[in-house]
Amino acid sequence: MNARKRILTGDRPTGRLHLGHYIGSLQARATLQHEFETFLIIADLHMLTTKNEKADIDAVDENARQMVLDYLACGIDPSLVTIYLQSAVHEVYEMNTIFQNLVTVPRLERLPSLKDMARAAHKEEMPYGLLGYPVLQAADILMPRAHLVPVGKDNLAHVEITREIARRFNALYGEVFPVPDPMIPDIGTLVGTDGQAKMSKSLGNAILLSDDAATVRRKVFSMYTDPNRISADIPGRVEGNPVFIYHDAFNPDKAEVEDLKDRYRRGQVGDVEVKEKLNSALNQFLTPIRQRRAAYEADQGYVDEVIYTGTLRAREEAQATLLAMKKAMGLTGVFNRISRRTEKRRKRLEQA
Ligand code: TRP
Repeated sequence: MNARKRILTGDRPTGRLHLGHYIGSLQARATLQHEFETFLIIADLHMLTTKNEKADIDAVDENARQMVLDYLACGIDPSLVTIYLQSAVHEVYEMNTIFQNLVTVPRLERLPSLKDMARAAHKEEMPYGLLGYPVLQAADILMPRAHLVPVGKDNLAHVEITREIARRFNALYGEVFPVPDPMIPDIGTLVGTDGQAKMSKSLGNAILLSDDAATVRRKVFSMYTDPNRISADIPGRVEGNPVFIYHDAFNPDKAEVEDLKDRYRRGQVGDVEVKEKLNSALNQFLTPIRQRRAAYEADQGYVDEVIYTGTLRAREEAQATLLAMKKAMGLTGVFNRISRRTEKRRKRLEQA
């Protein structure tokens, strides 16, 4: 018997991942996979809540594979982790329908995250499916009956909704679900290369895990630093300066970082040296990731195999959970009785 507690988390398949994803989630996932039985969802149904044109759907195949390559490159081990495609696990749609009755519209309307997503997607009015985004997320999390949900701050409210739905279900029908705990990374969100609050591909301020050395160098040298420091002999600000935030996050040579900070504050180091050393540190960090990525990419069909196997495994889990839900609710009984009575009637008519 496998008594390990379970994790469920994942991402919408929008393509290649960046350093912010590493700091915010991939790093933790690679560590936690040894302690928890981990499920990683490729949440393409969630993508549909804001992007549902044919072209968006056509892109899922390639985007999902690029994303999974990034997972594997960062040390996520498919022999430990179930990576699956949400839209291919049909039971999740059914769970979603059942959970819709366990939450109110005003509760969902109060969530700022949904309004933000609607605005970002240029929706004038809230789509019904987007309002239900957290309910579908609850179906994801409760599908493998997860105990722990590592997510970013922006998803915290959705895990809270999941907890409410789990409690409500258990209270109405009997104990089926553990009430899952969220887990937020303590490092926080990584700023973009332009100093904006969040690294994001759509903002054009991201360093991708799959960027080559020349691209990383170009991005590092165009990074935003202290705008008041127009020459190297002016004392600079280290706090909140993206170049130093990245040094803190990715440069393992702490003595070098402290020396740079010290000289920066005293106006005794140029941006070029600070950036040159950051570029080296980032490349040192990214080289093994790039190598692993290239090796997995060279193994034709491997990523498909990982997603395929994971999805079949997720389906088994989903079938078991859905059945447990319907049994607890008494929902399996209704049609079972109807079909038994029908069979009897048909036999009776045959014999007459
Ligand atoms: N909402 C997540 C995002 O921001 C993706 C996601 C879908 C998810 N289902 C999940 C995350 C379940 C954690 C758990 O892209």
